[in-house]
Amino acid sequence: IRRKLEEDSYTPRTWRTHPLHICAPEPYDPSHPLTKTVLDWIFVISCLNFSFWSSYEGTKERYGVEWFASWRETEKAEGRRQVFTGYWSLVASLDRGPVDDNTALWEEDIPFVNPEFYSSETMCPDSLIEHVFRPTQRSTESMPLIHDRIRILREVGFILCNNFGGSFKGFINEFHRRYHGQGSALDLVKMVIETFPSFRDQVWYQGRTVYFWKRAQILVAELWAAFYPASPSTPHPFFPGPSGPRIQELTMFADYRVPQILHHLRILDYPSSLMQLLQSGADLMPGCREEVSLRAASIIAVERVRKEITRILEEEDDSTENGDGGDGQRRKPVGVSSVLIDFYLWDFAKRIENGEEKVEEIETAELAPIHHTRSIWY
Ligand SMILES: *[C@@H]1O[C@H](CO)[C@@H](O)[C@H](O)[C@H]1NC(C)=O
Repeated sequence: IRRKLEEDSYTPRTWRTHPLHICAPEPYDPSHPLTKTVLDWIFVISCLNFSFWSSYEGTKERYGVEWFASWRETEKAEGRRQVFTGYWSLVASLDRGPVDDNTALWEEDIPFVNPEFYSSETMCPDSLIEHVFRPTQRSTESMPLIHDRIRILREVGFILCNNFGGSFKGFINEFHRRYHGQGSALDLVKMVIETFPSFRDQVWYQGRTVYFWKRAQILVAELWAAFYPASPSTPHPFFPGPSGPRIQELTMFADYRVPQILHHLRILDYPSSLMQLLQSGADLMPGCREEVSLRAASIIAVERVRKEITRILEEEDDSTENGDGGDGQRRKPVGVSSVLIDFYLWDFAKRIENGEEKVEEIETAELAPIHHTRSIWY
């Protein structure tokens, strides 16, 4: 994993290269309208970023959304189009609306990512939300858990409109005010959890609360990556304090994809009873023993991978640069965050699923099916 991160020059800046991501103007400009749109776009995606697995997986009937293959394709007269499934169907649905400041690129004129719009049942009735997420003609499945998604949109939209001036940008401003610009990524995660009930991904399990906070941590990680400055000497706009975002304090994002790849790489070992359960395709109830175990084990596994990579990096650092290198300057601490390992593993799992990449040089375990749990948490 360490070598792959290096070979693919995987950094937070990789975020900007994803074909469907919209990018904020650089350098950071808080008053540019596109900055606000990108913030609201990331927020609304994080709110709805759950349960995209399908029992129609691998068939044309699966829920899919048609859009251009990338933002670059929108600029061509005959731009290439594609059907997106899974998480990317959500992103493609929202990219159809006015999110770029170039009006010529809009497919339709619904200002959906604006909380003032999606919180209002008059401006944005349920039927319009269903229209925004309409599937491509060939799909017979519609968006999973659409009613939960509508309920969440109304709730988060209402909270932003009542307390934060109707935009997630207002929430970020409040974060800066509260922490005097010194807040860390984890402080921001906690503020999201306190403010928005639909992010409280935690379960009562055998006498104690187990906290996963998957979407809250991703939201903050996405903000970190999407606004990661081009030059390492520029402070991050959201975490400008001297200790920066302290992104290593976040864990990986416990979902159904990362455990699968961890198992394939033989970092996680599944007992045969669990393997049978997964192969049967049975639905696992949210909070049940197997589901909590899979999620918790993947957090612990990625923490261990992180510690091991950090150890290797420190060792190399010591052997190449003895002492302070004679210039009297303190060396930068070396290390890697679980966030970056997670981003990398998730993209990697997708490429393996699509047959675009194979693991070489190490022994792998047979690819197990993902676990099937319908919930609003991931
Ligand atoms: C949505 O979830 C996927 C899978 O966990 C993750 O890779 C992605 O970063 C998330 N995006 C947002 C905006 O939350």
